[in-house]
Amino acid sequence: MENVKVFPVVVFSVLLCVLGVQSVDLKELPSCNFRAVYNFGDSNSDTGGGSAAFWPQGPPSGNTFFGRPAGRGCDGRLMIDFIAEHLGLPYLSAYLDSIGTSFRHGANFAMGGVTIRPQNESMSLNGVPPFSLDIQMVQFNQFKARTSYLYNQAKNSHRSNLPRPQDFSKALYMLDIGHNDISAGLRKKNDTDFHLSVPDMVEQLAKAVQNLYDQGARTFWIHNTGPMGCLPVYLRYHDIKPDELDKQGCRKAQNDYATEFNRKLKDRVIKLRKELPQAALTYVDMYAAKYKLIGNAKQQGFVDATEVCCGFHQDDIHVYCGQKAKINGTVIYTGSCEDPSKYISWDGVHYSEAANHWVANHIINGSFSDPPLPITHACHKLT
Ligand SMILES: *[C@@H]1O[C@H](CO)[C@@H](O)[C@H](O)[C@H]1NC(C)=O
Ligand SMILES: *[C@@H]1O[C@H](CO)[C@@H](O)[C@H](O)[C@H]1NC(C)=O
Ligand SMILES: *[C@@H]1O[C@H](CO)[C@@H](O)[C@H](O)[C@H]1NC(C)=O
Ligand SMILES: *[C@@H]1O[C@H](CO)[C@@H](O)[C@H](O)[C@H]1NC(C)=O
Repeated sequence: MENVKVFPVVVFSVLLCVLGVQSVDLKELPSCNFRAVYNFGDSNSDTGGGSAAFWPQGPPSGNTFFGRPAGRGCDGRLMIDFIAEHLGLPYLSAYLDSIGTSFRHGANFAMGGVTIRPQNESMSLNGVPPFSLDIQMVQFNQFKARTSYLYNQAKNSHRSNLPRPQDFSKALYMLDIGHNDISAGLRKKNDTDFHLSVPDMVEQLAKAVQNLYDQGARTFWIHNTGPMGCLPVYLRYHDIKPDELDKQGCRKAQNDYATEFNRKLKDRVIKLRKELPQAALTYVDMYAAKYKLIGNAKQQGFVDATEVCCGFHQDDIHVYCGQKAKINGTVIYTGSCEDPSKYISWDGVHYSEAANHWVANHIINGSFSDPPLPITHACHKLT
């Protein structure tokens, strides 16, 4: 009889606890006040690492916001730029940008085209830059050691462009990578030695998180991979059969792999919370945010998600944004569409500034995160 009475009370207080975590605690939690951001990733968050080699160095890149190419595969700002603005920090300098750079508020190790998994010779020969996630870790470790040394050596007046050593453990560490592993693995099977292995991708990413933790990192903000099968560059082939497409008109194969990776990544992040007891790890469902935008393009003021603002993609002919090519004897130059703010896809592979802004607005308040904390509060552990 005792149990019958006690049971509802227990249920009730468990319920209160759950509700309490969601509403009461959130308001009482102080902002993390991040003074630095360190980012690791591919072209989705590359703010200049690959600019010398991989982006068009002329217009129309960057026209919408920077008025110059600015090292980004976009007409303007990337999601990481909107995140920096939201945190009250300057745009992140690329680690590989050696001119006029300040690393006071962090550094960006992202590089267009790179993979999570280490590459080998045959991939490099295919034009993939050699800065896979393991190399980005080596670069970060060296960056931290070297800048800390220099900071301690330098006089105050020479410290202003260097990160403050005490900020490393209080910084936000972001990862946004995996798209190129999936696309390399799904490319024509005979032109690459890179076989898709989702478990290995997830393990390598966990290894990177562990490395950063060992270096003192405590707050992680991890983006999953987007719906790659919705990228126009994958859709503009003549030989796609209707049954290869999902309800949104996106290619199922790419999206299925992205979804599988995301599911395993989420499980791994949950496990990492136990392995790294002092870390706060946020898993961000970027896939869901982007897919929501794509599915609601019209209502959100955009043209169809398969349209490309800059570039020509048809019948297996790809002329990327800002490039010239001769097609059927006619030279075509691919410039910007008239109004980039109406397009989700900037260049067939990367999102426009307007789309990046939409997605950033929807993820920074935590509505696509686990746990559902705003990015300004991501240093708190909800357990
Ligand atoms: C490999 O791919 C090329 C096109 O990239 C194709 O012409 C060739 O027939 C393929 N070879 C095999 C063995 O599938
Ligand atoms: C490249 O790596 C893959 C595994 O990712 C392996 O199967 C392949 O044999 C390697 N190729 C070379 C040339 O080392
Ligand atoms: C090039 O010419 C062929 C044959 O006339 C035509 O089928 C094809 O659509 C043309 N391609 C482009 C991109 O205009
Ligand atoms: C987060 O922001 C988006 C975009 O402004 C909004 O639609 C959504 O309702 C917000 N969610 C929460 C939980 O505040």
